[in-house]
Amino acid sequence: RLLIIDFGSQVTQLIARRLRELNVYCEIHPFNKVDDAFLAAFAPKAVIFSGGPASVFADGAPMPPKGVFDMGVPILGICYGQQVMMHCLGGRVERGHGTAEFGRAYVTPTAARLPILDGWFAEGREQVWMSHGDHVSEIAPGFEVYGTSPNAPFAITADPARRFFAVQFHPEVHHTPKGAKLYENFVRLAGFKGDWTMGAYREEAIRKIREQVGDQKVICGLSGGVDSSVAAVLIHEAIGDQLTCVFVDHGLLRLGEAEQVVTMFRDHYNMPLIHADESDLFLGALEGVSDPEVKRKTIGRLFIEVFEKHAKSVGGATFLAQGTLYPDVIESVSFSGGPSVTIKSHHNVGGLPEKMGMKLVEPLRELFKDEVRALGRELGLPDAFIGRHPFPGPGLAIRCPGEITREKLDILRRADAVYIDQIRKHGLYDEIWQAFAAILPMRTVGVMGDGRTYDYALALRAVTSVDGMTADYYPFTHDFLGETATRIINEVQGVNRVFYDCTSKPPGTIELE
Ligand code: XMP
Repeated sequence: RLLIIDFGSQVTQLIARRLRELNVYCEIHPFNKVDDAFLAAFAPKAVIFSGGPASVFADGAPMPPKGVFDMGVPILGICYGQQVMMHCLGGRVERGHGTAEFGRAYVTPTAARLPILDGWFAEGREQVWMSHGDHVSEIAPGFEVYGTSPNAPFAITADPARRFFAVQFHPEVHHTPKGAKLYENFVRLAGFKGDWTMGAYREEAIRKIREQVGDQKVICGLSGGVDSSVAAVLIHEAIGDQLTCVFVDHGLLRLGEAEQVVTMFRDHYNMPLIHADESDLFLGALEGVSDPEVKRKTIGRLFIEVFEKHAKSVGGATFLAQGTLYPDVIESVSFSGGPSVTIKSHHNVGGLPEKMGMKLVEPLRELFKDEVRALGRELGLPDAFIGRHPFPGPGLAIRCPGEITREKLDILRRADAVYIDQIRKHGLYDEIWQAFAAILPMRTVGVMGDGRTYDYALALRAVTSVDGMTADYYPFTHDFLGETATRIINEVQGVNRVFYDCTSKPPGTIELE
């Protein structure tokens, strides 16, 4: 197995994902948990140092244990990982005055060839993605330069004899098109066969769940989305009826959603399911709230309260299961607790009170959406269900900027249903990562028939994405947009204007809040 030492990069999990795509088993461990004893016990066949936001000059800068360099295994350092490697092995790093580099760059090869660059430079230069402040100014003894970019003279460095490789750019992101090839070459050189599969992941996940839970009872928050459904089916497979699913209807679901979920899990899968209609509780608490973070935290807190109540009702469940995915984790954790800064408090992570009195089972915590879908298929969930667009835990609350009212939610639900119907009718549903309507906190004047209207404006959103971390808005035709706007305004009372959101992520996020 391969060890990734995490120095806090936003994209560390993408490294893991690239390795899983190569059917290599890896684990990510934060730098402060990895010492020489850990290394000896883990016995990695290869090690990768992730990037990270720190500077090697900072007090207490994150460092790997010195012993890692004496294990005789291949090491790949990325960005901060490269700087750390040079710093530890006798090279020099300089502060990035004027040489910070963010975004696309082009690397050209130096004369020497390197096995991990097989398949690179066929057309002379390769595009890579840079994101660094400091840079290496002198490479460590034994290292040589194998690729340079205008702002990074040491873009690719290596000590082939020791099998140490260090790059300034991020080969794990899509903007480094040949990055996957570099990982492939690296794991081959490290001797991995590439025989690990999603089936193996399922077995391993089931083993871990059994080990964690023992004979205790678990309740699982079922939202009807793919993530919590896959988590529930996986956990049910691991521990059977020790699991009870709780479907909290917070009054923020889409049209007909509650019925669909209850039918599927209770009738089709025969899983113990509590349908908790708590819309009064949630909508009451959200009355007058318009701040997005307050909304998210309120919903997160109430979810936990409701779960705790039902946990008691099933006779002392001590575990709470959630379908938290990696992008939910990364965007919710601040650097003190792990990597990166807080963008949004995702309800299944950030809203958790410290003392919720239950332990968490989160079997999907390391996975990206499409990997969860693959796992769902592996578990036999129907394709139509697995293909459903993601739906966030806080539901329609975060698609209703400003104050939430029952009237607005009702309009939003009906408009969203028309929009999705349009997308399905035009055969576009599977091309789109996520599409939804949002109701804007404003009314505008219109004219219908011979009368004046003063109704709500809607925003339509549709994006393509591979992992939810970045996204492009979907380029509908004008005909489609015009037809959809007309249908919504004709069929949904209370709407007289429709906008289409052309913002990508970044700088926008997928949801409006
Ligand atoms: P953003 O808006 O952060 O969304 O660009 C990225 C993806 O995450 C979903 N999302 C959530 N999922 N709980 C969830 O389970 C949440 O609190 C949450 N907020 C956003 C969003 O729908 C998109 O797919």
